Amino acid sequence: MSTPHLDATPGQIADTVLLPGDPLRARHIAGELLDDACEVNTRRNMLGYTGFYRGMRVSVLGSGMGIPSCAIYATELARVFGVRRIVRVGTCGGVGEIELGDLLLAQAASTDSNFNRLHFGGYDLAACADFGLIRAVVDTAAAQRIGLCIGGVFSTDCFHGGDPELVARLLRHRIRGIEMESAGLYGVAMREGFQALSVLTVSDHLQRDTHMPATQREQGLSRMTALVLDSLLPVAAR
Ligand code: HPA
Repeated sequence: MSTPHLDATPGQIADTVLLPGDPLRARHIAGELLDDACEVNTRRNMLGYTGFYRGMRVSVLGSGMGIPSCAIYATELARVFGVRRIVRVGTCGGVGEIELGDLLLAQAASTDSNFNRLHFGGYDLAACADFGLIRAVVDTAAAQRIGLCIGGVFSTDCFHGGDPELVARLLRHRIRGIEMESAGLYGVAMREGFQALSVLTVSDHLQRDTHMPATQREQGLSRMTALVLDSLLPVAAR
């Protein structure tokens, strides 16, 4: 059985899924980091692969941009494919004392989206990451001497513009990054009962208007994805 948005059959998707926004990044991760990767989804060109990382079976699938797209895939992965953990591997804009190339673990995600409220009777949901996944990445990064920032992010529906006071509001609340998916992913995870975490590379800085060059971005994302996969090894073995 496939879903409206995924043409894989249930056994073709692993318990553990990496979710980059860009489907071409999913193809890149599969080619660069997975052994014996097979293509499992091409519907809407949202490319998905399943392979092995040091013996751990793992899938990688594009999520598209924004909460609605990401939430569609996360929901179908959980309900139809029984996925147990999803780690978003993406980029974010940095706010305040954070540098281009830094890694940010999104502990909690605030948002201007109405998505979680639609599921929560109009109340504000505290959309937060799974503690076990945070701990796994923190422990692995410490063992590998990789620096991490851990903090709040803001998931916006408005990439271009919106609230002119937004950066000041984010700074006021010690929010470290802005992106477009985590609040939706965490909300779906809390409702559907799977573990979720977003691990983000700071690709832009909002106040300084600086941007990571393409090659550096590429290398940064690969380094971050390898860290995430190493972190998942003990979690997936449990
Ligand atoms: N805004 C929203 N999403 C992003 C940004 C940004 O500045 N940079 C990377 N993803």
